[in-house]
Amino acid sequence: MLRNLVLILGFVLTPLVAQEAAKPAAEPPPAPDAKPTYVNSETCQACHEDIFKAFAKNPHYRLETDKKRKWEQKACESCHGPGSKHSESMAAADIIQPTKLAPSQADKTCLTCHRNQPTHVGRIDSGHARSAIACTSCHSVHKPKELARNGRNAAVNQQCTSCHVNTLASFQKPHAHPLSTLPSAGNNAMSCLDCHNPHGSAPKANLKFASANEPGCLKCHADKRGPFAFEHAPMRTEGCSSCHEPHGSTNPRMLTRPEVRLQCLECHSNIASQQATGAAAGGTLGGIPPAFHDIRSPRYANCTTCHMKIHGSHVNRAFLR
Ligand code: HEC
Ligand code: HEC
Ligand code: HEC
Ligand code: HEC
Ligand code: HEC
Ligand code: HEC
Ligand code: HEC
Ligand code: HEC
Ligand code: HEC
Ligand code: HEC
Repeated sequence: MLRNLVLILGFVLTPLVAQEAAKPAAEPPPAPDAKPTYVNSETCQACHEDIFKAFAKNPHYRLETDKKRKWEQKACESCHGPGSKHSESMAAADIIQPTKLAPSQADKTCLTCHRNQPTHVGRIDSGHARSAIACTSCHSVHKPKELARNGRNAAVNQQCTSCHVNTLASFQKPHAHPLSTLPSAGNNAMSCLDCHNPHGSAPKANLKFASANEPGCLKCHADKRGPFAFEHAPMRTEGCSSCHEPHGSTNPRMLTRPEVRLQCLECHSNIASQQATGAAAGGTLGGIPPAFHDIRSPRYANCTTCHMKIHGSHVNRAFLR
């Protein structure tokens, strides 16, 4: 709470500071120990020729030329802060290097300009912000091939899984979505971004969709979208992950249980029903199969041989067709 407040204050204050500082021309030449003032990008060029040249292809170069953005001819200093002192001393200590700041400070620098973008709505509450994963741990400003636009899927996946090692392991299980980093992936190769917003979004677990109604999955699995005349209740109440492990599974169809039967009986059994009438009565569990189901008989082992339209049916309330 306190931390959010500090961040929000930061958002409000930094633009003011930035605007204030954006009028260097009116100030007198600095005394030796005075606060550094803005110079301009050409001053930086004198000593950082390579970076300056490469910068012409950077999306941030727009700052250098666009009057309206208030950083005309001093784009370098929009991230590195006023550079007069450093330009004389050449000391690292006299210039801001965002990756050397505390993550929240670094983020503040970037968010001065990027705070209102739709992809950043969940940023403050996301696991990344809470765990001090700064913008700069994913975005490398001066690398010629910026992650966000080039090499796409494979590069993104590699970066995400450099930290999320367990997720990578899940995608290597026998039943998984084809992840483009892995040799097993074919033409349908996917990236983490097909389901996640790297900046966080309001719903649980950074997903691009609200927990139960999952257009993130339905975007590709449109046949599961419905509306069905008879919808299997957990599709709406708990979402796809109540039965599937989206990152991959040792179970066929990426189910959370090794056999379809066990998957179903998790909710459709006497024990579950008894629990449902007792402490666990949340209304989320299904009814029990009618008596003619002999659960021990092999004939009934694979429930979906009969209940074929398990996600929902247009014609049959027991999902038989
Ligand atoms: C007169 C030469 C000179 C000028 C002008 C100059 N720099 Fe530097 N800069 C250096 C040197 C030398 C270093 C390496 C310092 C070190 O490693 O101790 C450096 C290092 C840096 C660093 C890395 C700091 C760190 O913590 O690693 C940044 C960022 C930087 N300069 C940005 C700028 C910007 C922005 C400007 C223009 C406002 C600029 N420089 C102007 C000479 C210059
Ligand atoms: C959008 C923010 C941003 C802008 C604009 C920007 N930089 Fe940087 N700069 C960074 C970040 C972040 C780093 C840390 C390394 C990285 O992420 O690439 C950095 C690193 C540096 C370094 C240290 C390089 C090293 O290898 O350690 C220098 C020097 C530098 N910048 C100079 C410049 C100059 C000169 C300009 C203008 C031509 C400029 N920067 C514009 C964000 C910026
Ligand atoms: C002074 C304003 C400003 C600051 C500070 C700033 N940016 Fe940007 N950024 C821009 C502008 C302008 C663009 C060009 C796209 C646009 O017009 O929105 C841009 C574009 C980007 C893009 C998109 C690249 C693409 O290919 O579309 C990324 C990623 C990005 N910035 C990351 C950062 C990061 C990380 C930081 C902090 C180290 C940062 N920015 C700081 C203004 C800024
Ligand atoms: C520098 C390390 C690092 C990188 C790179 C990274 N993450 Fe994370 N991520 C974390 C940490 C730390 C957490 C919070 C702890 C946790 O839940 O494991 C986290 C949490 C998450 C969560 C859980 C949701 C939440 O808000 O808690 C998702 C989803 C996620 N990351 C997706 C991604 C994706 C997609 C990428 C690539 C674009 C990525 N991560 C790159 C470190 C990283
Ligand atoms: C976990 C890794 C990760 C972190 C942390 C992260 N980004 Fe990104 N960012 C990405 C990826 C991956 C994309 C490409 C998204 C896409 O194209 O769908 C992206 C895209 C962008 C874009 C261009 C698209 C857009 O949203 O307009 C901007 C600007 C941007 N990021 C800025 C930031 C800023 C500012 C921060 C810190 C507050 C940040 N990012 C933190 C991974 C990250
Ligand atoms: C097919 C869609 C999909 C893809 C692709 C995907 N995820 Fe997920 N991810 C999910 C869903 C759904 C959840 C929430 C699971 C839950 O509710 O139990 C999740 C949860 C997470 C979490 C938080 C909890 C956990 O299970 O670890 C992290 C971290 C994460 N994903 C990282 C990644 C990374 C990294 C990639 C790329 C290698 C990736 N995801 C690709 C759908 C996906
Ligand atoms: C970007 C498109 C895309 C998204 C988003 C997506 N999927 Fe898939 N899904 C696929 C593709 C392609 C296959 C087929 C994989 C194959 O043939 O190996 C597949 C296969 C499956 C399978 C069957 C696996 C098997 O063993 O037959 C299940 C179950 C599944 N997806 C569930 C989900 C769930 C749950 C989500 C959301 C968390 C989701 N998918 C999101 C593209 C997607
Ligand atoms: C109540 C449990 C349950 C829920 C919830 C569920 N599924 Fe399934 N799903 C299954 C079962 C069981 C199978 C295997 C059917 C079989 O045996 O052929 C399956 C199979 C699949 C398949 C592969 C075969 C096919 O029909 O295409 C895909 C893709 C799939 N599910 C996607 C989804 C998506 C997307 C969601 C969420 C919108 C979802 N599932 C929600 C139980 C469920
Ligand atoms: C996460 C819990 C859950 C799982 C797993 C689950 N169901 Fe259901 N199922 C329900 C709920 C809740 C209902 C709605 C019950 C009601 O409306 O009384 C339902 C309804 C049904 C119905 C419609 C008849 C009825 O009672 O309304 C059938 C048939 C059914 N499920 C079969 C299956 C089969 C077969 C499986 C395994 C593939 C399965 N279910 C897995 C929770 C689940
Ligand atoms: C041999 C075919 C078959 C198999 C296998 C099968 N069922 Fe059924 N199931 C039916 C039929 C037929 C009905 C009755 C439908 C009706 O009343 O219209 C039914 C009804 C149900 C109902 C109640 C539906 C309602 O309308 O109240 C549930 C719950 C159910 N089955 C669950 C399961 C579960 C769980 C399994 C696996 C352990 C399973 N079934 C295996 C044929 C089958």
